[in-house]
Amino acid sequence: MSETKIALVTGANKGIGYAIAGGLGALGYRVGVGACDEARREDAVEELRAAGVDAFGVPLDVTDDRSVTDAVEMVERAAGRLDALVDNAGISARWEQDPTTLDLDVVRTVVETNVLGVVRVTNAMLPLLRRSTAPRIVNLSSSVASLTRQTDPDIDVGPIMAAYSPTKSFLNAVTVHYARQFAGTNILINAACPGLVATDFTGFFGSRTPEQGAATPVRLATLPDGGPTGSFFEDDGVVPW
Ligand SMILES: NC(=O)c1ccc[n+]([C@@H]2O[C@H](COP(=O)([O-])OP(=O)(O)OC[C@H]3O[C@@H](n4cnc5c(N)ncnc54)[C@H](OP(=O)(O)O)[C@@H]3O)[C@@H](O)[C@H]2O)c1
Repeated sequence: MSETKIALVTGANKGIGYAIAGGLGALGYRVGVGACDEARREDAVEELRAAGVDAFGVPLDVTDDRSVTDAVEMVERAAGRLDALVDNAGISARWEQDPTTLDLDVVRTVVETNVLGVVRVTNAMLPLLRRSTAPRIVNLSSSVASLTRQTDPDIDVGPIMAAYSPTKSFLNAVTVHYARQFAGTNILINAACPGLVATDFTGFFGSRTPEQGAATPVRLATLPDGGPTGSFFEDDGVVPW
């Protein structure tokens, strides 16, 4: 088996996903850049290669079964296994989301990408991950998923995002159940909060760079054996559920 570790990052054509791909590449990982848009994906691959990363493009729409099946075949052909899967692709759909006037189509769209997309990709990639000697899965969550923080009047958790935030709480809960299912195996799975990062996603609002946002996901994707699993981290440590 090749010594080079293989990673796949979903939504890696820009923002935090791109920085995670760069961070893993800098650690010597061969990185699959998962993204829908062909031009932006190939630009990202080219830029990563120019920076010395062994990157390859993986056409991937996390909401589409066929696309995910094709992505599995592509990673299998390109690398034969997967050591780290970073489920980064995510959307918010709208900044202000009042629960009393929620558009259910918006909720469905956000759940489809942020939760079902992660489950779809993770389960499809599992056979490749199981071929690794140290499989790691990281789900990009957010501190707005923390019900403890959302209900603490002393913490500013930003605007009410009644579709987006619960999808990340849902994702956290799913992460815990994966960890329970993987108990006794070598698969470690955790959720990561990148902090408030200036990307397209936030309209470039936020004090953190994509590289800073990538630090915790990269750390969790490269955990040593015996590391934590079924937990939720940010740079400063564990985020309360
Ligand atoms: N930025 C923040 O402050 C912040 C804070 C907490 C958590 N997060 C989480 O961090 C992750 C990355 O956010 P970001 O700020 O880097 O956002 P971003 O700049 O908007 O990037 C999101 C990425 O996800 C991809 N994506 C969206 N839908 C997809 C789909 N169906 N299939 C495949 N890829 C898809 C996008 O690709 P296209 O460009 O092709 O659509 C893009 O590459 C998200 O899960 C987000 O919820 C971000």
